[in-house]
Amino acid sequence: MKSVLLGRVLALLWVSVACADVLVQPGFQAKEFSGVWYMVSMVSDCKVFQEKKDHLLMSSATVTASAGGNLSVHMEVPGAEGCHQMDVEYLKVGSEGHFQVPALGYMDVRVVNTDYRSFAVLYIYKELEGVLSTMVQLYSRTPKVGPQALRAFQDFYPTVGLQDDMMVLLPESDACSSRGKEAP
Ligand SMILES: *[C@@H]1O[C@H](CO)[C@@H](O)[C@H](O)[C@H]1NC(C)=O
Repeated sequence: MKSVLLGRVLALLWVSVACADVLVQPGFQAKEFSGVWYMVSMVSDCKVFQEKKDHLLMSSATVTASAGGNLSVHMEVPGAEGCHQMDVEYLKVGSEGHFQVPALGYMDVRVVNTDYRSFAVLYIYKELEGVLSTMVQLYSRTPKVGPQALRAFQDFYPTVGLQDDMMVLLPESDACSSRGKEAP
């Protein structure tokens, strides 16, 4: 118990140090960020992710901006047992584009780079069962990602200590496609 508590205190200290130099997209516009995104690539130093990454599929996220800067996100995650759907709240903390997602164990989420119409790079610092990890996600407006987006992603993740062999390009799946076509 004591070590768990100590772990949490250290984790908080570590977060405030580790996150200090990751910047958010200047002038982030939650409204422009709304709509459908495909998660086309991920990179993470989480051990569980490393074990599972070659079996992960491309998921989608439908983002709705709410007043005050929070985001409501409807996620559709294809898996071996079909389509897993989730609704999660991205709670604004501090500046626009800076969030926490308690439901996913995301302690710190920052939209670090986006042009809104084709790609977005998200930095995530998360805790899962006491284990801390850094993750970077590449979102694309279409399932096919462009070279400019890939470059922005691959230029960014080494700056937070992540390496190419921790990265996976997520294959498309039709497990969620019938629902994906429904109008919002
Ligand atoms: C975001 O949502 C949380 C939880 O519903 C709420 O407490 C908070 O006030 C909201 N933030 C803003 C800036 O509206």
